[in-house]
Amino acid sequence: MTSVDHGTVSRIADLPVAERRDEAWRRLSAQGEVVPMADGLALTSLAVVKEVLREPNRFSIKKVFDAVETGYPLIPLAFDPPEQTNYRRILMPFFSPRRIRPLEEALRAQAIDLIEAVKGRGSCEFVADIAGPFPAQSLLTLLGLPLDDRDRFIGWKDAALELTADAAGELPLTTEERAAKVEQTMAMGGYLTELIRTRRSSPEDDILSEILAIEGDDRLSDDEALGVCLMLVLAGLETVTDALSLGMERLAASPERSQELVDDPSLVPAAVEELLRLDAPAPFLPRITTEDVEIGGCPVPAGTLVNAHLNTANRDEACWPHAYEIDFHRQENPHTSFGLGAHRCLGTHLARLEMRIVLEEWHRRIPRYAIAEGTAHRAKLVRANLGLESLPLEFG
Ligand code: HEM
Repeated sequence: MTSVDHGTVSRIADLPVAERRDEAWRRLSAQGEVVPMADGLALTSLAVVKEVLREPNRFSIKKVFDAVETGYPLIPLAFDPPEQTNYRRILMPFFSPRRIRPLEEALRAQAIDLIEAVKGRGSCEFVADIAGPFPAQSLLTLLGLPLDDRDRFIGWKDAALELTADAAGELPLTTEERAAKVEQTMAMGGYLTELIRTRRSSPEDDILSEILAIEGDDRLSDDEALGVCLMLVLAGLETVTDALSLGMERLAASPERSQELVDDPSLVPAAVEELLRLDAPAPFLPRITTEDVEIGGCPVPAGTLVNAHLNTANRDEACWPHAYEIDFHRQENPHTSFGLGAHRCLGTHLARLEMRIVLEEWHRRIPRYAIAEGTAHRAKLVRANLGLESLPLEFG
């Protein structure tokens, strides 16, 4: 067993997230529930994470976005209440189970095609073959766009994430690389702007046309509609890709657990929740204090950056006995991986549907699989997104 070093860390980058992420979260939790770090405070316990995320006006996300140049503000995420509440009220009905459920048949057929394409090969690169393409296709289906645009969307999303990582000094790009990424994100803006123009003048049968058709006080301008579209691309692709990749890695490394899903597919919804609990793809949510506050009894001045760490909050033993183990039979699983409070994820029903479909169809077709021997599959933590670079799988 790997030994656990409880020495203090001052940056998340000092933790072994890439190689042994469970150990990383154990070490972070061991430092306390409000931990001073080089860039602000890390909040690790379920209690303090709840405390902060439930008070969006004292712990502002808008101030976090205002501190970085992002072009068009993401709607609704980059706002605090009451603006955010208003945008959210307008958008919420389009992401309800009633609106998402009818997509299931089309999405399932697409997932089956992707899985059938690798099944006969005996091996695949799960991130590139399944976990990357499927969420992009799902979003295109939701927006009523051609699936042929899939790889362009994936490239645009990657370029936007790499640019923010570059701006934060996490992933320095060369001048040429940066120029190429800027060009890609501008191409995404151009595509979405044109899409909004077309759908406004000639509506089709998709949620974007419906959102654009709203009249009266709730009408969204073209710029606001662009903020919504950018939000969906940036929030809806990488998260599901990462959740599927990290979850399948855990399953591939735990054959007894994957066998449970083969033997009893009705466990898949519980498995989705448990895998999300263990690997929140957005591992920490940043906020800035708007006034002097107390967090977990500690005084914290106004203007402090605090990061609510979901992967440590999700391992609270009082809520999840044997919190570091995978257990598809937990009676309740109120994990925080979709956030909580005012900004709780709007895409939960779509994300859960996508994950359920992939786990069901994969285990139905490829019941036994393992991580390809001798391959390195490290986790990557880039701009608050936790995922895998690659996941090479082998099957009989
Ligand atoms: C497993 C997949 C997903 C995870 C783990 C996830 C996680 C999250 C989290 C943690 C937040 C809150 C951020 C914060 O408070 O700072 C959030 C917000 C959001 N997510 Fe997701 N998400 C996922 C998939 C999706 C999908 C598929 C969509 C839509 C296509 C989506 C749309 C949104 C939107 C619009 C918000 C902003 C809500 C607001 O500010 O009111 N998400 N998500």
